[in-house]
Amino acid sequence: MRKINFTDKNGTFTITNPENYSGLYLPLAGEEGLKSSITPTLGGDSKTDQNHFLLEPVSIENLHNNRGTRNFWCRVEGKGYWSACGVSAEQEFDKYTDRQDESTLEAGMMWQKLTRTSKKYHLQSEITSFVSIDGTTEIQLIKITNLSEEEQEVTPIVALPVYGRSADNIRDHRHVTSLLHRIDTKECGVEVTPVLSFDERGHQKNDTTYFVYGFTAEGNAPKEFYPTVESFIGEGGSFLIPEAVRVEKKGCTAGCHLEGKEAVGAFRFERRKLKANESIEYVVLAGATGEKASISKICTLFGTKEQAENELAKVKKYWTEKVNVEFETGDEATDNYLKWICFQPILRRIYGCSFLPYHDYGKGGRGWRDLWQDCLALLIMNPSNVRQMIVDNYGGVRIDGTNATIIGNKQGEFIADRNNITRVWMDHAFWPFVTTRLYLDQTGDMEVLFEKVPYFKDLQSMRGTAHDKFWNSEYGQKQKTERDHIYFGTVLEHILLQNLCAFYDVGEHNEMRLHGADWNDALDMAWEKGESVAFTCAYAGNLRNIAKTLRQLEEISGSSKIEIAHEMEDLLAGSVELYEDAARKQALLAGYAKKCEHNISGDTIVVRLDQLAANLEGKADWMMKNIRANEWVKDGEDGWFNGYYDNHGRKVEGVMDESVRMMLTGQVFAIMSGTATEDQVESICRSADKYLYDQKAGGYRLNTNFHEEKFDLGRMFGFAYGEKENGAVFSHMAVMYSNALYQRGFAKEGNKVLQALLDAAMEFDNSKMYPGLPEYFDNQGRGLYAYLTGAASWYMLTMITEVFGVKGDCGDLKIAPALMPEQYNQDGKAVLKMTFAGRNFEIIFYNKEKKEFNQLKIRKAVCDGKALEIAAERCTILSKREIQMLSVKETHKIEIELV
Ligand code: G1P
Repeated sequence: MRKINFTDKNGTFTITNPENYSGLYLPLAGEEGLKSSITPTLGGDSKTDQNHFLLEPVSIENLHNNRGTRNFWCRVEGKGYWSACGVSAEQEFDKYTDRQDESTLEAGMMWQKLTRTSKKYHLQSEITSFVSIDGTTEIQLIKITNLSEEEQEVTPIVALPVYGRSADNIRDHRHVTSLLHRIDTKECGVEVTPVLSFDERGHQKNDTTYFVYGFTAEGNAPKEFYPTVESFIGEGGSFLIPEAVRVEKKGCTAGCHLEGKEAVGAFRFERRKLKANESIEYVVLAGATGEKASISKICTLFGTKEQAENELAKVKKYWTEKVNVEFETGDEATDNYLKWICFQPILRRIYGCSFLPYHDYGKGGRGWRDLWQDCLALLIMNPSNVRQMIVDNYGGVRIDGTNATIIGNKQGEFIADRNNITRVWMDHAFWPFVTTRLYLDQTGDMEVLFEKVPYFKDLQSMRGTAHDKFWNSEYGQKQKTERDHIYFGTVLEHILLQNLCAFYDVGEHNEMRLHGADWNDALDMAWEKGESVAFTCAYAGNLRNIAKTLRQLEEISGSSKIEIAHEMEDLLAGSVELYEDAARKQALLAGYAKKCEHNISGDTIVVRLDQLAANLEGKADWMMKNIRANEWVKDGEDGWFNGYYDNHGRKVEGVMDESVRMMLTGQVFAIMSGTATEDQVESICRSADKYLYDQKAGGYRLNTNFHEEKFDLGRMFGFAYGEKENGAVFSHMAVMYSNALYQRGFAKEGNKVLQALLDAAMEFDNSKMYPGLPEYFDNQGRGLYAYLTGAASWYMLTMITEVFGVKGDCGDLKIAPALMPEQYNQDGKAVLKMTFAGRNFEIIFYNKEKKEFNQLKIRKAVCDGKALEIAAERCTILSKREIQMLSVKETHKIEIELV
């Protein structure tokens, strides 16, 4: 039996007794403001940012002992006390003895409803939790029903411990910071306003108020308050059996003021007699606000049952509509999983990589490569803002081709690194063009390449190896010219600069230096001699595609020349002799970086697009040839590409005496870039199947077991094998492997990768996770790091642009499906609903005989009944012009008959 049951097509699911599984949590958030996580027993936390946690911050390992969080108690006269979310000492014990409670969770995007019944207390609770769309308030709607034939008397008690400070204070002055708390009981709730935001580098006056309010369905206020932890749990007490629940304890009334204590939004409502089947309902509101006065407004907006229900309906609609992509692949559960995968990029935009229980790294925000890759999904779901996002993000590039790594809260805001020599992630310059290229294809808006953008400037110079001693904060964070003007270069210039600088930044084997790490953050211990062949391939692919873009630009825009910074002329050197000489390349790059170390001249040169394109192609071809000649690792008849050099300058991969060392990353980019020949792709597939594939683990592992704590390459080798970056099936790289295979026409092989991942995630007994794609599967098959993985963007993109084959081509819509027979329903039909160029499309594919994709031809393709151009056997096109003539209101039906 399936553990996860879907109840609609929007990803809503149910699961029984979810508290029997560890590590489950759901995100609840608004567009901005609160970011919560919630477990099946209402554990988890809630915050607006690193410094403002409403509930105590939790990591994954806190979830199973996370007892001081949201609770709703019922003291039942003559019987005892029951936690409506299952978190009491008695219920925890019962769970393993004679189980008295049964629970069901129903959940969707940004909301959950927990239903719990107790045999012992003859009570049922229904608790619905969500965050208002504006992000001001976490709302719980609570309904308690008397299931007994007899009348029962119940006293409801709310308990929500208010942490009310920065996550840093969990270990840093935990007690001292409670002394800053000022706690007030109001008519309907508890407010906590710390006096200071504690930071020994400079305390700041705090103006955030944390609040917990409660109302009966009739709008009545609580009767008594227990606003401090000590008054609520009692001397020697605990949240599992708090004194104010255990006994009828006198609390304080509204209007009381307390200082210097750990706070809790705890209060009891009036005791109620409940007849058989009678229910009582409550609304609990909690949040953090910079304006105390807004709390009363929040209460008037969401404080009644009707208002809260109304907001819930809005929340459900809002987030469901955000995911405006729909798949029909013949299996409804798969389609629902895909809904969640498409929702994941939205979650990462909101939560960054820091604010869900598994994601306890960083203090908020997203990394550079994540920023760009999340744009990929947005380009499909919400493209209108992406143009500006792309333009703004290029403002993070430094004139030496590296980029800012501290990213501010606002779009296009980058923060200067004033201290250390920064770490350079050598893959960073690769991603912006990938995203920009997709943007060009989806929109045909070549003009974006001519947008003028400044360059980022801080203390760092010479590609992270030196400091510009003339820079200070007065100079500002934008690159200037000798004439003291801020320098603006085109987006295209930024792209060229990033990729050209990378070209010259090579190590002793003439492959690109690894620097601080590449995509694999955990390859971080080979700063001096490490090289990433994997990303040398990737950049070679970029150079080729940039060249293609330049040629298209000439064709479409008619312009044949562009202007670039004068200093960049050096980077356009074009002799094979130079390419072959790693030391000369490094010297040339150092020369360039030195010229740009402080100001640049501000002068420009004009270059011809065709010459520039040829120059880039020359470089790309040389790189690919060089890699094919030197990095192919032989294994009998087959082989694969060596992806790295370690800090001793040794090749990392190969068939060694004691083990086979193979890594997936190098193969992915060799295939994606076109470095691997067709025969080599086949060979890589066979090798990956032999050494990396493990169906039970979710498919293709990131690497084989090196059986070595390889400190000359990275911390990943310190991780247990099969976990995270050391050889787990790491979804992001696996999906990119699939994407690369599809791009090269290896659809069957690509599908195998996607399917293995989804099968592993959907096997709830192993994966033990809510619907979606995890960052990786551990050795037992559990899906870890739910929601916030770049894998989701790529999965969605691959499904749309490769599997369904619906992709932009300079603004035209090209459809070339590569669906497997089993991806059509029993009538041989598969459907994709999405928007493109502001129009809604329902694209229906018919493959009545369910033939293999490569045996199919398009017999007929129509849009709203009108025939479309069939460009090749399996490719049809709807031109940009035709699309512009379609109305933006209706959904347009494209039907494609394959025979
Ligand atoms: C995470 C990071 C990503 C990094 C990867 C491998 O991947 O977000 O930047 O490249 O680990 O170290 P994700 O969780 O996005 O799949």
